[in-house]
Amino acid sequence: MIHYKTKEEIALMRESALLVSRTLTEVAKVLRPGVTTLRLDSLVAEFIRDHGGVPSFLHYRGYPFNSCMSVNDVVVHGFPNEEPLREGDILTVDIGVVKNGYHGDHAYTFAIGDPGAEVRQLIRVTKESLYKGIEHAVAGARVGDIAFAIQEHTEKKYGYGVVRELVGHGLGRQLHEDPQVPNYGRRGTLQKLKEGLVLAIEPMINLGKRDIYTESDGWTVRTADHKASVHFEHDVCVQKGKADILSDYSIIEAAEAANPELFTE
Ligand code: MF3
Ligand code: CO
Repeated sequence: MIHYKTKEEIALMRESALLVSRTLTEVAKVLRPGVTTLRLDSLVAEFIRDHGGVPSFLHYRGYPFNSCMSVNDVVVHGFPNEEPLREGDILTVDIGVVKNGYHGDHAYTFAIGDPGAEVRQLIRVTKESLYKGIEHAVAGARVGDIAFAIQEHTEKKYGYGVVRELVGHGLGRQLHEDPQVPNYGRRGTLQKLKEGLVLAIEPMINLGKRDIYTESDGWTVRTADHKASVHFEHDVCVQKGKADILSDYSIIEAAEAANPELFTE
């Protein structure tokens, strides 16, 4: 069942989405070689709780951490651990909060030092594909239009692997609401979009083949060929004419640009 949000609910959802953006900004400030993702996970939990939210991933279907920290060939759902980050690693930080009863859920991929030209391009193109998808999150369009735009920009144009098994989703009082939002598909198909529908749009794009597998911990998803994978996610409200992006990359990007340990194009 699809839940369309009122103006009041959208204001609360923007607050939740922005709390995630601000938390990702805190992570961007301290990222450097040598830091552990477990340390970052503690920082995430503390910042969210200090700002009136609750980390929503913790205990979700038994997930044992506050955030997902996915390094290099980990696609999504990486466990924070005590392995220090190294120069040339890429790290996707995926964070969820619930505040005032509404969920925020978004993600950003960082480069710690220079991961090399191929991976830098993968990061740039995956982020671009997210915005190309968002262009279609308007009343009257369909979920398939978003999906097609993402697939065209990544798979068709660059030959990257578009993960099929994991998809974006509706967002609201629940972390995962209808509809599902795949990153591949055909124009003019799937759910018709109406004002007030909030979506988490989240391309997961592999440098190599699209195939993935889940580790024996039941969560960690890796690329089958162990090449890098990138994931960007925004929370977006469908409107007439132009989507309303509830989350905010500009503050994360400013912190990223100001951190000499992070590589930006
Ligand atoms: N962004 C992911 C999603 O939308 C985060 C879920 S991770 C979990 O599914 F730990 F909460 F499961
Ligand atoms: Co999500």
